[in-house]
This record gives sequence, C-alpha cells and structure tokens, in this order.
Amino acid sequence: MKIKSTRSSFFLSILSVLVLVTIFFVSPVLAEDDEGGMADMPTCKTDECHADYGVKEYVHGPVGIGACYICHKATTDSHPNEDTLDFELAAQGKDLCYLCHEPKDQNETVHKPVLMGECQGCHDPHQSDFPMQLKKGTTKDLCFSCHADNKTNQQFVHGPVAAGDCNICHNPHSSAYPRLLEKDGNDLCFMCHIDRLAEFTKKYVHKAAQESCLNCHDPHGSPNKYMLKRFGKEVCFLCHKDKKEQIETAKVKHGALKEGICTNCHTPHSSDFPRQLKAPTKDICYTCHEDIGKRVKSELYIHGPVQQNDCYACHDPHGTNNPKILKKAFPAKFYMPYKTENYALCFGCHNKELALDPFTDKLTNFRNGDMNLHFKHVNKDPKGRSCKSCHAPHAGPQPKHIRPEVPFGNPPMVWMLPINYTMTENGGTCEVGCHKTKTYDRVNPVQYK
Ligand code: HEC
Ligand code: HEC
Ligand code: HEC
Ligand code: HEC
Ligand code: HEC
Ligand code: HEC
Ligand code: HEC
Ligand code: HEC
Ligand code: HEC
Ligand code: HEC
Ligand code: HEC
Ligand code: HEC
Ligand code: HEC
Repeated sequence: MKIKSTRSSFFLSILSVLVLVTIFFVSPVLAEDDEGGMADMPTCKTDECHADYGVKEYVHGPVGIGACYICHKATTDSHPNEDTLDFELAAQGKDLCYLCHEPKDQNETVHKPVLMGECQGCHDPHQSDFPMQLKKGTTKDLCFSCHADNKTNQQFVHGPVAAGDCNICHNPHSSAYPRLLEKDGNDLCFMCHIDRLAEFTKKYVHKAAQESCLNCHDPHGSPNKYMLKRFGKEVCFLCHKDKKEQIETAKVKHGALKEGICTNCHTPHSSDFPRQLKAPTKDICYTCHEDIGKRVKSELYIHGPVQQNDCYACHDPHGTNNPKILKKAFPAKFYMPYKTENYALCFGCHNKELALDPFTDKLTNFRNGDMNLHFKHVNKDPKGRSCKSCHAPHAGPQPKHIRPEVPFGNPPMVWMLPINYTMTENGGTCEVGCHKTKTYDRVNPVQYK
C-alpha cells in the first residue's frame, strides 16, 4: 500500500528542519526498543504536518509515541527533500497488526473482515474518539456499518440486542463455534438465563428444546412475543406438520384450538408429565371444562378411563371427524338404525358383539334369561337406541354407569326423563319414562306380556 503526498518546496524545507529537530529529541527514546535499525527515523507528526494524528481521546500505542515509521516505510532514499514521498506499509493487511499483536484468526470461525485482513473495517490504525480505536461509538453502530439492521428494528427485541451489546454473544474476531458465538448451542442462552436451567432438566424435556433454543426463538428479535420465529400455533407447526394437518382438516374442531394455542395445554420446554403436558390430562381439561370436573369428582361411579384421568382415550383435543371431538364414531343422536361401526368408540374397549344376537347367555349381563336386552334396545331399525340413552360416558350416581336422566324432545320443550335403576343379584329393575317399570333376571327370567 502506498501513500503519496505532494508538498511545495517551501513546506518541505520547513519539514526538513522539523524532522531534524525531531530526530534529535526522539531518537534516544526510540533507540531503547529499536530492533529493526529504525532508531534514527524521524516522526512525521509536527505542528505543521500530520498535526492531527494522535490528538483524539484514544491514540494507538505506536502513534502516541510518534513511531509512524514502524508501519509506514519511506521508499525513496532522498526523503524528505523530494517533491514526492513514497511510503509503503511495513506489512500488508493483518500482518501489519500481527507485527505487534497476537493473531486474531486462530479459531474455527473467523469473521470475514478479519480473515480478509480488514482490521481497519473496525479499528482506526491511528486514533479514535472511542476505546480500542473503534470506528463507531457503540457496538451495534459498528456492526451495522456493514450488516443491515434487521435485528433491532423488530417489534420484540431481545434484551442484550436492544442494549446494542452484540459482542456479549459474538466475538468480533473469531470463535471456536459457528456464527462467531461465545458459547456453543444452548449454553449461550444459559450464560444469562441461568435461572431457567432447572426448567430444562425436568423429566420430560422437549426434544426441540434439547436440540436448540433457536428452533423456536430468534436470538435477536422478531415480530412475535418472546421473539418466537412464528406466531401462535405456527411455531409448533414448523415441525409438527401432522398435527397441523389434523387440526386444519378435522371436521369437528376443538374450541380450545380455534383461537387458543398449543401452549394452553403443552409446555414448549419441558415438563414433569409425559407429552409435554402442563399438568395431568384431566387437570388440563378441567381448567376449561370445570363443570365436568365438578361432576366427576362428586359422582359415586366413575367410568374406567375417566378414573384413569384418560380423557384422551375417547377425545382428541386436536380435533377429529366425530361429534364432541371423539376419537372414534359415536352417534350424536339418541335414535338411529343399528350398525356396529356407529359405536366404534365403545367397542374399542367393550365386546362388540354385545348387541348382535337376539339370544345369548354370555355376550351381556343385560338380559332376561337368554333374551339379549342390549339387542332389544339397541339393534333396531329405525329407532335403535344409542348407548347414551342409558349410559353416562363420564360418571354418574348409578351402577353400570346408568345415567340418572335422559333428555327427551327438542328445545325448548326438553323433558329430562328420569331413569331409576336398581341392580339386583341376577338382574335389575328400571323405573323409566319410556315404559312402565320393568325388571330383568338372568336366572329366573321375568315373563313379559
Ligand atoms: C500501526 C500502524 C500505523 C502507524 C503506527 C501509523 N500508521 Fe498511518 N496508516 C496506517 C495504515 C494501515 C493506513 C491505511 C493505509 C490505507 O488504508 O491505504 C495508514 C494511513 C495513513 C495516512 C493516509 C491517510 C489516512 O489517514 O488513512 C497517513 C497520512 C498516515 N497514515 C500518517 C501517519 C502518521 C503521521 C503516523 C504517525 C503519527 C502514522 N500514520 C502512524 C498504519 C499506521
Ligand atoms: C508497532 C506495534 C503495533 C502495531 C504494528 C499495531 N499495534 Fe495495536 N497496539 C500497539 C500498542 C503498543 C498498543 C497499546 C497497548 C496497551 O495499551 O496495552 C496497541 C493497542 C491496540 C489496540 C487497543 C488495545 C487496548 O487494549 O486498548 C487495538 C484495538 C489495536 N492496537 C489494534 C491494532 C490494529 C488493528 C493494528 C493493525 C492495523 C495494530 N494494532 C498494529 C502496538 C501495535
Ligand atoms: C468487526 C469489527 C472488528 C474487526 C474487523 C476487528 N476488530 Fe479488533 N476489536 C473489535 C472490537 C469490537 C473490539 C473490542 C472488544 C471488546 O471490547 O472486548 C476489538 C478489540 C481488539 C483488540 C484489543 C482487545 C483484544 O482482543 O486483544 C485488538 C488488539 C484488536 N481488536 C485487534 C484487531 C486486529 C489485529 C484485527 C484484524 C486482524 C481486528 N482487531 C479486526 C472489532 C473488530
Ligand atoms: C467491515 C464490515 C463488517 C463489520 C463492521 C462487521 N461485520 Fe460481521 N460480517 C462481515 C462480512 C463481510 C461477513 C460475511 C458475510 C457473509 O459471508 O455473507 C460477516 C459475517 C458475520 C457473521 C456471521 C459469521 C458466520 O460465520 O456465519 C456474524 C455473526 C457477524 N458478522 C457479526 C458481526 C458483529 C457482531 C459485528 C459488530 C461487532 C460485525 N459483524 C461487524 C462484515 C462485517
Ligand atoms: C443473545 C445473543 C446474541 C446477541 C446479543 C446478538 N446475537 Fe447475533 N446471533 C446470535 C445467534 C445465536 C446467532 C445464530 C443464529 C442462527 O444460527 O440461526 C446469531 C447470528 C448473527 C448473524 C449471522 C446470521 C444472521 O442472522 O444474520 C449476524 C450477522 C449477527 N448475529 C449479528 C448480530 C448483531 C449485529 C448484533 C447486535 C445488534 C447481534 N448479532 C447480537 C446471538 C446473538
Ligand atoms: C447476555 C445475556 C443474555 C443472553 C446470552 C441471552 N439472553 Fe435472553 N434475555 C436477556 C435479557 C436481559 C432479556 C430481557 C429480560 C426481560 O425483559 O425481562 C432476555 C429475554 C429473553 C426472552 C423473552 C423473555 C420475556 O419474558 O419476554 C427470551 C425468549 C429469551 N431471552 C431467550 C433467549 C435465548 C433463546 C437465548 C440464546 C440464544 C438467550 N435468550 C440468550 C439476556 C440474555
Ligand atoms: C419448541 C419451541 C421452543 C423452544 C425449542 C424453546 N422455546 Fe422458549 N418459548 C417457547 C414458547 C412458545 C414460549 C412462550 C411461552 C408460553 O407461551 O407459555 C417460550 C418462552 C420462553 C421464555 C420466556 C417466557 C417465560 O416463560 O417467561 C424464555 C426465557 C425462553 N422461552 C427461553 C428458552 C430457552 C433458553 C430455550 C432453549 C434452552 C428455549 N426457550 C427453547 C418456545 C420454545
Ligand atoms: C424444531 C422442531 C420442533 C418444534 C418447532 C416443535 N417440536 Fe414438539 N417435538 C419435536 C420433536 C423432535 C419431538 C420428539 C418426537 C418423538 O420423540 O417422537 C417433539 C415432541 C413433542 C411432543 C410430545 C410428543 C410425544 O409423542 O411424546 C409434544 C406434545 C410437542 N412436541 C409439542 C410441541 C409444541 C406445543 C410445539 C410448539 C410450542 C412444538 N412441539 C414445537 C420437534 C419440534
Ligand atoms: C386442549 C389441550 C391441548 C391443546 C390445545 C393441544 N394439545 Fe397436543 N395433546 C394434548 C393431550 C391431552 C395429548 C395426549 C396426551 C396423552 O398421550 O395422554 C396431546 C398430545 C400431543 C402430541 C403427541 C401425541 C399425538 O397425539 O400425536 C403432540 C405432538 C401434540 N399434542 C402437539 C400439539 C400441538 C402442535 C398443538 C397446537 C397446534 C397441540 N398439541 C395442542 C392436549 C392438547
Ligand atoms: C383452554 C381451554 C380448554 C381446554 C384446556 C380444553 N378445552 Fe375442550 N373446549 C374448549 C372450548 C372453548 C370448547 C368449545 C365450547 C363450546 O363450543 O361450547 C371446547 C369443547 C370441547 C368439547 C366439545 C363440547 C361440545 O359440547 O361440543 C369436548 C368434548 C372437549 N372440549 C373436551 C376437552 C378435553 C378432553 C380436554 C382436555 C384434553 C379439553 N377439552 C381441554 C376449551 C378447552
Ligand atoms: C369413555 C369415553 C370418554 C372418556 C374417557 C371421556 N369422555 Fe367426554 N364424552 C364422551 C362422550 C361419548 C361424549 C358425548 C356425550 C353426548 O353425546 O351426549 C362426551 C362429551 C364430553 C364433553 C361435551 C359436554 C358434555 O358434557 O357432554 C366434554 C366437555 C367432555 N366430554 C370432556 C371430557 C373430559 C374432560 C374427559 C376426561 C376427564 C372426558 N370427557 C373423558 C366420552 C368420553
Ligand atoms: C378406553 C376404554 C373404554 C372405552 C372407550 C369405553 N369404556 Fe366403558 N369401561 C371401560 C373400563 C376399563 C370399564 C371398567 C371400569 C368401570 O366400571 O368403569 C368400563 C366399564 C363400563 C361399563 C360398566 C361395566 C360393568 O360391568 O360394570 C359400562 C356400562 C360401560 N363401560 C359403557 C361404555 C360405553 C357406553 C362406552 C362408549 C361411550 C364405553 N364404555 C367406552 C373402558 C372403556
Ligand atoms: C336401554 C338401556 C341401555 C342401552 C341403550 C345400552 N345399555 Fe349397556 N347396559 C344396560 C344395563 C341396564 C346394563 C347392566 C346389565 C347388568 O349388569 O345387569 C348394561 C351393561 C353394559 C355393559 C357391561 C357389560 C354387559 O354387557 O353386561 C356394557 C359394556 C354396556 N352396557 C355397553 C353398552 C353399549 C356399548 C351400548 C350401546 C351400543 C349400550 N350398552 C346400550 C343398559 C343399556
């Protein structure tokens, strides 16, 4: 690199005087740490020439002592009496700096300008108003002199980014990790979010969080709260594409997901419960379906899967093609012609032949002698009764989950038809609004008219 400067002879004669004077005063000082035989070199900083070098608040070491020649070597012997002075740098690019400084490019990831030897992209070799001879007063101004500012102008900006402190995460020169980061992976985040470390050591850590916080969060900022990469459910759909499809194509949608988001029920990070649930399934459901919670807790007979808190056994909270977001078919209506597949939900756990034969001595206990009363009530065309005409799906006050009452008629004229069921040793008695009180007995069949 060359620096040419043209001077009038008048100035040069003054310069020569000044240079001689300077040599006289400065050389003994320089001689002490001179190695390259430059002890006799003059400084270029005088009252008239280059007077403004070394006057700013932060002056580079060698400039401060006027040792310009360490970096600038005159290439014409006749210096300084020629009209044209030629200088060249003692070394090129970063090699110039490495004459005195430790190399800055010894790590795996090297910042491009450092790699290219453009130390001056950030540092002024002579002086600066800012510490470290930096060219800008704040880190972010420095970075944004080359990088587009798509980081601080987001709606939700990360604390340290908003503070302009890019270097707390990035090394300006080089790093052992990708993206010039100071720490690897999630350790970077835990430098500051140490209080959250416990959260990520729970029993069930979401694989996505274990892998990288950056799967969901932007480290700088984003248009979404918590600097999430996508809004609402979409951040989860980045990976759970099957759930996206299920939720979007389900004919029956769960109210919880129409407006709500996945994190109403799941934690994005970790959990003490399987499936990243915030709480055991039923507790989650009861936060919104309080009425069912109350009912279940107060009833004497609780249906097996509900006892197990397994609402998910029958309902899929992400949506299904069946009424009431049931996982399998179960009719919404009370009456319809019988088809086994209409009751796939119940028959997923119970004997699906329960209502197939008019006569049986083993398919069901709901029989009078060998007359199958399930068949009689359920397996009819057109007015077969749904299981829910008699059974409550969740819980109730009577054995065999016989519901206490069943709605009859259409709004606004709905009559709650009572069902009083009494179990006996070999059968039971129903006192209902459907027919007069009837009893069935498996051992000594009742004679019906
Ligand atoms: C640490 C090495 C170093 C020292 C010491 C140094 N310079 Fe420089 N100087 C440079 C570099 C590098 C450039 C830039 C060259 C380029 O970009 O073409 C430069 C450029 C210059 C220029 C060209 C204009 C400018 O500012 O970019 C002048 C004039 C100059 N230096 C004068 C001086 C004077 C006078 C001194 C002593 C007071 C001095 N330098 C000390 C490294 C140094
Ligand atoms: C002739 C030796 C020499 C050369 C060549 C040199 N420096 Fe320096 N540099 C120094 C000295 C001496 C200091 C003052 C160290 C101190 O204050 O601890 C310094 C200080 C610095 C500092 C501030 C460090 C601090 O802790 O305050 C920076 C930044 C710096 N130099 C960058 C550069 C760059 C960039 C180059 C190449 C353009 C360069 N130096 C070339 C000798 C040199
Ligand atoms: C992208 C901007 C940038 C580039 C390019 C850059 N630096 Fe720096 N440099 C910085 C910043 C910012 C600091 C202050 C770091 C801090 O405060 O911890 C710094 C600090 C320094 C320091 C003093 C502290 C230390 O780490 O030793 C030296 C010496 C230095 N740089 C030398 C260089 C050299 C030599 C080059 C070229 C090989 C270079 N820098 C290129 C931004 C840069
Ligand atoms: C002198 C210009 C310049 C300045 C100033 C600058 N950068 Fe860069 N930076 C670059 C270039 C060029 C690249 C390479 C871009 C590319 O490859 O697309 C880069 C790349 C990066 C990368 C990506 C590195 C990688 O390996 O993927 C990061 C991170 C980065 N810069 C951070 C910073 C930070 C932080 C600052 C402020 C301290 C800063 N830069 C200042 C020029 C600069
Ligand atoms: C909280 C830590 C943190 C802070 C503070 C931070 N960054 Fe980053 N930055 C990252 C991480 C992590 C990545 C890697 C992102 C990735 O790989 O997806 C990154 C990537 C980058 C990249 C390269 C890829 C890209 O996204 O453009 C640049 C450039 C960059 N940061 C510049 C900056 C600048 C400029 C600042 C200051 C305004 C800054 N960073 C502040 C953590 C941080
Ligand atoms: C240098 C310290 C630091 C590092 C490193 C850091 N953060 Fe932060 N983070 C903060 C600060 C400060 C806040 C703002 C806290 C506040 O507003 O209450 C914050 C806020 C957040 C928030 C929003 C919290 C809220 O309540 O709005 C998220 C999310 C976040 N950080 C994630 C990360 C991730 C992911 C990483 C790693 C890529 C990371 N942080 C690295 C300091 C840091
Ligand atoms: C699977 C996506 C995902 C991953 C991966 C992820 N987060 Fe989050 N994070 C979220 C969501 C979503 C929220 C919003 C919390 C909510 O809605 O309850 C959040 C909130 C936060 C908050 C602030 C909100 C609060 O609870 O106060 C911090 C801090 C945070 N995350 C840090 C991290 C850190 C650190 C990591 C990596 C160890 C990480 N996150 C990984 C999705 C994620
Ligand atoms: C970066 C991809 C990614 C993102 C984004 C993501 N996940 Fe995951 N998630 C996974 C992976 C991988 C698993 C582990 C799957 C496995 O082990 O079969 C998982 C597991 C789960 C599980 C447990 C599944 C099971 O079978 O145990 C739930 C629940 C879950 N994620 C919910 C969410 C929610 C809610 C969000 C949004 C806040 C989200 N995920 C965002 C990748 C992701
Ligand atoms: C109303 C509560 C609720 C909401 C909202 C919810 N989930 Fe779930 N999710 C559950 C329950 C309950 C389970 C099953 C737990 C079990 O296996 O017992 C589950 C299971 C999962 C599973 C693993 C098992 C499977 O079904 O494949 C994934 C993945 C999942 N949810 C992702 C999501 C995503 C993504 C969202 C948001 C789009 C979401 N969930 C919204 C309650 C919910
Ligand atoms: C965040 C609140 C919320 C949570 C948690 C929640 N739900 Fe819901 N659920 C709703 C809303 C809102 C509706 C729609 C209510 C309506 O349309 O009257 C609904 C509707 C339903 C329906 C259909 C009701 C009907 O009459 O059509 C069923 C079944 C249901 N939820 C089951 C569950 C189960 C099982 C869980 C636990 C896995 C659960 N819900 C968790 C809010 C929630
Ligand atoms: C054995 C299967 C089964 C289990 C387990 C189950 N449900 Fe249901 N649930 C049903 C059926 C069937 C209906 C529809 C009843 C109807 O059509 O009248 C229903 C209806 C609902 C409704 C709609 C409103 C209502 O009262 O009819 C909600 C809400 C609901 N269930 C929540 C839950 C919750 C919460 C759990 C877990 C505690 C749960 N369910 C467990 C089968 C089940
Ligand atoms: C996930 C499996 C499962 C599903 C689905 C299921 N049940 Fe059950 N059911 C059980 C278990 C386990 C028991 C035994 C514990 C008990 O008495 O509740 C049971 C018991 C019963 C009983 C009492 C039987 C007895 O001998 O005491 C009736 C009646 C019943 N279920 C009806 C239904 C109906 C109607 C459906 C469909 C709406 C249904 N079940 C769906 C698991 C299931
Ligand atoms: C007319 C009322 C009624 C209807 C409709 C009805 N059940 Fe029952 N069910 C009963 C009675 C009463 C019992 C008790 C039998 C006993 O143990 O004495 C019973 C018992 C059961 C049992 C216990 C095992 C057994 O067969 O003894 C299951 C399981 C069952 N019903 C499932 C269903 C399913 C599934 C449907 C719909 C396909 C259904 N029920 C429809 C009245 C009914």
